[in-house]
Amino acid sequence: MKILVTGGTGYIGSHTVLSLQEAGHDVVVVDNLANSSEESLRRVAELSGKTAAFHQVDLLDEQALDGVFREHAIDAVIHFAGLKAVGESVKEPLKYYYNNIVGTLNLIRVMDGHNVRRIVFSSSATVYGEHNPIPYVEKMEIGANNPYGRTKEQIEDILSDLGSADDRWHIALLRYFNPVGAHPSGRIGEDPQGIPNNLVPFIAQVAVGRREKLMVFGGDYDTPDGTCLRDYIHVTDLADGHVAALNHVADKAGVFRWNLGSGTGSSVLEVLHSFEKAVGRELPYEITGRRAGDLPAFWADASAALADLGWSTTKTLDEMCQDHWRWQKNNPNGYTA
Ligand code: NAD
Ligand code: WQD
Repeated sequence: MKILVTGGTGYIGSHTVLSLQEAGHDVVVVDNLANSSEESLRRVAELSGKTAAFHQVDLLDEQALDGVFREHAIDAVIHFAGLKAVGESVKEPLKYYYNNIVGTLNLIRVMDGHNVRRIVFSSSATVYGEHNPIPYVEKMEIGANNPYGRTKEQIEDILSDLGSADDRWHIALLRYFNPVGAHPSGRIGEDPQGIPNNLVPFIAQVAVGRREKLMVFGGDYDTPDGTCLRDYIHVTDLADGHVAALNHVADKAGVFRWNLGSGTGSSVLEVLHSFEKAVGRELPYEITGRRAGDLPAFWADASAALADLGWSTTKTLDEMCQDHWRWQKNNPNGYTA
């Protein structure tokens, strides 16, 4: 199939482009490069031996997007493009609602106009909010507790309404848990701009000497070692989950929701120690106050993706850290030479 990947130069997008090419699909990428570099796609081409067509297009520019659909006979879309920093979304909610929601509305309107009605959407575990028991199951009521998460929830609602109104749509809503790691080649990986918000990129920058020490946000949670538990998932497993979801919706209409996670939680200190093993030395850290909005623990019930898609995670936390470290060590400044 010919797959349009929005946000395909980004972290998860670039790994998914590679998985799609390895599975035999043709890929077209649109990205406005707001949080990524075209270098990722050059490296994906190096790894796969195939070149994805790239269009530097903002989803807010509906006309330009329409041009991409006129140029390519797209069969399905995997939609990653969006802003994703929770803290920034609290400070600049309008920027998030406008970019993520209007961008998605433009995309699905253009898709509809071109009779393309298969979409796999990047949702997030953050939609489960703070009131659900763990593990999270797809049928639970959702309710995010920050503007970023609410953009995901609202896009899920928009796509669900669309699927209910028109049975020609094939829609997969994928709720990712905590993606980390990098392709084992060390050629592509996560390249955060500025100070990393997320745990593993921060540890990686401590290890490579770009940050002094890790601040562990809270050591007094009601968890085995006092630090928060999360469900970390290797980005290549996540990418393969997209290919599995795409295969499912290729011939099945309707709206499907799947958690993509491992089904287990790891603590902040477990992640740190696993990363230390990969690096081969101890890394400096300090336990500080809790970060506002953090939940003590959550992980996925990943049984629906296994039952419906035959997909489950394959990589351990140690492999995630080894691969993340290989990428960071070989590319201390990310894609910037
Ligand atoms: P990323 O920032 O690396 O990738 C997103 C890409 O979208 C970037 O390349 C950016 O330039 C592009 N983009 C943003 N707004 C755009 C617009 N208006 N038009 C065109 N391109 C635009 O982030 P990622 O970690 O690869 O995340 C991909 C998707 O997965 C996002 O939707 C994110 O919300 C979601 N997600 C990420 C995580 C995570 O922890 N990384 C977890 C759950 C869900
Ligand atoms: C993991 C743990 C922190 C940084 C976020 C988004 C979520 C999803 C994934 C997009 C927490 C602790 C972190 C640091 C730390 N993204 N930590 N020191 O918060 O689970 O989820 O990314 O959808 O929506 O909220 O991930 O990597 O930020 O934090 O101690 O410098 O590491 O407190 O316990 P989180 P994270």
